[in-house]
Amino acid sequence: MDTNYLEQCVAKIKVRNLVNEDVEVENESPLSMIGKGRQGAVFQVTDDICVKVFGNTEDCEREYYALSLGQDTNLFPKLYHKGPLHIAMEIIRGVDLREYLQSQPLSKELSVKLIEMLITFKEIGYERIDHHKRQIYLQEDGSLKVIDVARTVWRDRVYPYPRKLLNSLGKDNKEVFSAHVQELAPTLYNEWLHYIRMEEISCEIYQVLLESPKEKEDMVKALSDKLLTTNDEERYVVLMAGLMHKVFKEQWVKTMLARGVDPDKVIEKVDKHWDAHKREFKALKDSEYRDNDRDWDDDNPGKAKKAKDSKKEQPRPRRKWEQTEKATKGKKSGNVKSKNKGKDASKRDKDKSKKSKGKYSKWLTFGLI
Ligand SMILES: Nc1ncnc2c1ncn2[C@@H]1O[C@H](COP(=O)(O)OP(=O)(O)OP(=O)(O)O)[C@@H](O)[C@H]1O
Ligand SMILES: [Mg+2]
Repeated sequence: MDTNYLEQCVAKIKVRNLVNEDVEVENESPLSMIGKGRQGAVFQVTDDICVKVFGNTEDCEREYYALSLGQDTNLFPKLYHKGPLHIAMEIIRGVDLREYLQSQPLSKELSVKLIEMLITFKEIGYERIDHHKRQIYLQEDGSLKVIDVARTVWRDRVYPYPRKLLNSLGKDNKEVFSAHVQELAPTLYNEWLHYIRMEEISCEIYQVLLESPKEKEDMVKALSDKLLTTNDEERYVVLMAGLMHKVFKEQWVKTMLARGVDPDKVIEKVDKHWDAHKREFKALKDSEYRDNDRDWDDDNPGKAKKAKDSKKEQPRPRRKWEQTEKATKGKKSGNVKSKNKGKDASKRDKDKSKKSKGKYSKWLTFGLI
C-alpha cells in the first residue's frame, strides 16, 4: 500500500462528530465511502484495504489499540497503517449477522462460534466481552470476523454478560442462543442469568427510588431533628470530646511519627491521657446527678421521702428540659406561691446551668490542651 497516497487522500477528508448521530463527512478525495458510524467514516483504498477516518484522536487511538490486541487471532481486520485520525485496515467481506439472521436460523454451530468469539475477547484482554450482531461478519468459510472494536477497551464499567449481543439478536434468536449456551456451557449460562436478574432488580429499585412518595420526604423533614446532637448539652459535650479525641490522636500520632517515635507507644500514651480525662468527666457527671437528686427532693418532698424509703427505686436525675417545663407549668397555674416558686426554680436552673456549663466547658477545654 502506498502510504503517501493514503495520507494525501486522508488529508482531503474531514470527519466531524455529532451528538447522537453518525459523523458528518466532507470528502474531497478520490476514495469512495463504504460506510459510516458515530465515530468515523470508512473509505475503500485498494481491493483489500480500507481506511477509517475518525472525528477525534481518542477514538482513533482506542480502536487501533483494540485491533492491535487481536492481531494474532483471525477475528479482526489486519492493521496496515495509522495516523492521528485514521487507521488503514483489511476490508472485511462476507455478510454481517444482522443480514444473515434475516434469512437463516441461528444454528448451534453458529452459537459455538459466538461463544468462541467471546472467549477470544476475554483472552486478548478486552474489558467489554460483548458485541453487536451488525459488527460481526460471517465469512464464506464459516468463520467470524468483527469490526468496530473501539468500545471494548479503556472502560471502567461494563455489563458483566454479553447484553448487547443477546439483545441485538432479537427476542426469538435471544431465546435460541440462550438455549444453546444453557446446553453447551450451563455454568456460564447460570452466571449470565444471575447478572440479568441483578439488572432487573436494579431497574425495579431505581423505579421505587424514583417514585419515592412525597410523605417520605415530609417524614424525613419532620423527624430528622432526631439526628441533631447540639441541643442536648451533655450529649454534645461527650460528642465534642470524642471529636477532639479523634483529631488529637490522629494529629499527635502524625507529629510523633514525623519525629521518628514508635507509633504504638504514642497511641498508648494518648489513650492513657484520655482515659484520665474520661474518669474526670464521669466523676463530674456523678456529682452533678447527686446535686440534681437534692433539687428533686426539695421540689418533691413526698417523692424524695419515698425514694429515701425505697433504696431500690432511685429517682431518675432530672433533665434540663424537665426543669424548664416544670418552671413554665408553675407560671401557668396563676398561683402566686407557685409563680414565685417557678421563678426561683428557673433562677436556680440558670445558676445551675451556668455552674454545670462552667464545669463541662472546663472539661472540654481540658481536652483541647
Ligand atoms: N474493516 C472493514 N471492512 C469493511 N467494511 C468496514 C470495515 N470497517 C467498517 N466498515 C464499514 O463501515 C461502517 C462504519 O464502520 P464502524 O462501524 O467501524 O464505524 P463507527 O463510527 O465506529 O460505528 P459506531 O457508531 O457503531 O461506533 C460499518 O458498518 C461497515 O459497513
Ligand atoms: Mg465504533
